[in-house]
Amino acid sequence: MLELLKTRRSIRKYTNRKVEKEKIEEILKGVLTAPTASNGRPWEFIVVEDEEKLRKLSNCRINGSQFLEGAPLAIVVAAGGELRDIWVEDSAISAIIIQLTAHSLGLGTCWIHVRNRMHNESTSTEDYVKDILDVPEGVKIECIIAIGYPDEKKPPHDINSLFKDRVHYEKY
Ligand SMILES: Cc1cc2nc3c(=O)[nH]c(=O)nc-3n(C[C@H](O)[C@H](O)[C@H](O)COP(=O)(O)O)c2cc1C
Repeated sequence: MLELLKTRRSIRKYTNRKVEKEKIEEILKGVLTAPTASNGRPWEFIVVEDEEKLRKLSNCRINGSQFLEGAPLAIVVAAGGELRDIWVEDSAISAIIIQLTAHSLGLGTCWIHVRNRMHNESTSTEDYVKDILDVPEGVKIECIIAIGYPDEKKPPHDINSLFKDRVHYEKY
């Protein structure tokens, strides 16, 4: 786990290689073990491999989402049922579990944020995504995780400097 945490980076360029069904299953098995508040499990995950849908989803934001067009796979992280405010935390935790599980399988990922973002001046990113994927009313969307075999390399972050700046002992 420590090695995975150290080496994970946001990957926005992917090779043409499809993600094997077995790997998609492993990612889903991983995320379905994620902790949720009161074990509420509000999540709904939408697995998207269709090229046309990925292309449309890549335009969900004015910027920050276009690279999805080059990804072979996306998992849309949503939440439904009797939603409590904590669906946001539950969804965010599941998203990072998807990212880390995918990384453990040799895949690169990047979060594309959806909640409270706009597709254009009049349409929210959420409504735009919901329309493409036939998501029912009442279901909320947190983000889209783009997934694929990495076609870029990024060095790990320098955690030593972060230690100095961001970790406090006993008091702030
Ligand atoms: C809550 C959240 C929202 C993010 N939204 C986007 C996004 O919409 N588009 C994007 O390209 N990257 C997005 N990212 C990825 C961040 O830009 C990235 O994690 C950050 O720059 C640190 O780089 P690293 O992931 O390689 O460590 C998001 C990450 C998080 C955690």
